[in-house]
Amino acid sequence: MDPATPDRDALVAAAARWVTREPALTVVLTEVARLLTEALGADGCLAFLVENGGDLVLAASHPAPVTAGAPLRLPAGFGIAGRVAAEGTPVALVDDHPRHPRHRELLGLSPGQPVSRLYVPARLAGGPSTAVLALHSRTRREFGRLERDAAQRVADLVGLRAYVAAALTTMREHRDEWDAVVASAVAAQEAERRRVAADLHDGVTQAIASLSFHLSAADVALGDGDVGYVAEQVTAARSLADLALGETRSAITGLHSPVLDDQGLAAGLAAMARGVRGPRIEVDATDFPLPGHVSTSLFRIAQESVQNVVKHAGAGRAVIRLTRHGHMVMLRITDDGTGFDVPGSPGFDVPGSPGSGYGLRTMAERVHLLGGRLRIESRPGAGTTVEVTVPNVC
Ligand SMILES: Nc1ncnc2c1ncn2[C@@H]1O[C@H](COP(=O)(O)OP(=O)(O)O)[C@@H](O)[C@H]1O
Ligand SMILES: [Mg+2]
Repeated sequence: MDPATPDRDALVAAAARWVTREPALTVVLTEVARLLTEALGADGCLAFLVENGGDLVLAASHPAPVTAGAPLRLPAGFGIAGRVAAEGTPVALVDDHPRHPRHRELLGLSPGQPVSRLYVPARLAGGPSTAVLALHSRTRREFGRLERDAAQRVADLVGLRAYVAAALTTMREHRDEWDAVVASAVAAQEAERRRVAADLHDGVTQAIASLSFHLSAADVALGDGDVGYVAEQVTAARSLADLALGETRSAITGLHSPVLDDQGLAAGLAAMARGVRGPRIEVDATDFPLPGHVSTSLFRIAQESVQNVVKHAGAGRAVIRLTRHGHMVMLRITDDGTGFDVPGSPGFDVPGSPGSGYGLRTMAERVHLLGGRLRIESRPGAGTTVEVTVPNVC
């Protein structure tokens, strides 16, 4: 066939078959480069993909295959191909002098030799270019209107295909992010359950086990008629029952705050601080509307921080501060206690931390789920600050 009058419909139909049936984008590009080269009687065709930052990367070429190793990469806006990608309009050149040595090598050019080119952008319905197809002929020639038209039709199909490929990649990334969020939610839930289990084990279960032991002893003593010993055992059992009741109540209070539910975060924090025995806890918090899950998470973080102050810090005083900065909320708990070596950096994992580490890890998980930032500043002997910021919530 005369290369000047390509059979456009046959070319487009052949390209469409590759575009719609071949799963691998680079194979599609290689075959399209071959079809265009043959239909337009050119020496070859390079197919560049446009990356997110606008750089062009050589993804396929005909007749020389793309070799393994570092791909030919043209910075955004570099040369004619970069301009075609940026402006989205085709360009035909009779005497092109590509500057990139590997580019020249791919085109089979000797030093100083010019080349005739036809660059067409691949884009979807006027959107940004996703690829550039660049035909070349070492014999000087003009790529005319019919050839441009045929090449552009093929490039439009490639644009659609590259767009779909990019959309699929984005979808996969979103799915990966979603999986990570779900894993993080499950991990936070599990850590919380382990903490509750540990609290119940240390407090309630131990008390009830001893209580049962005293009641058994009383039972045996009753058979022996030793009323004095029975009375002693019953008294011990009663005080253990009281202890178990107290532990259960505080576990329940720790698990659920009616004040938080009814009156909001500021009131919830104040009520929680009032229930603390030991260090003086000051609360500096004004009320402002927050989504329920954000209030609950911040309350839990404050609760864990305050528990840590009570359990570990030996502090005289701690301050819980809740503030709003534009659309961002900030919760900060500061104590004047012993401080500790914070493992890792902010948003950390806490392997190898002293203590159980569940508290800090759960805090980090909660903050991660909110899309916020956790910063823990502490030095042995210099007190501790736990700071959580969550953007775009108020
Ligand atoms: N405010 C604090 N002051 C001093 N040490 C702290 C404080 N908060 C946490 N820590 C240290 O970090 C460790 C880990 O805390 P956490 O993850 O809450 O676990 P746990 O409280 O179960 O020990 C604690 O055991 C303690 O050594
Ligand atoms: Mg703790």
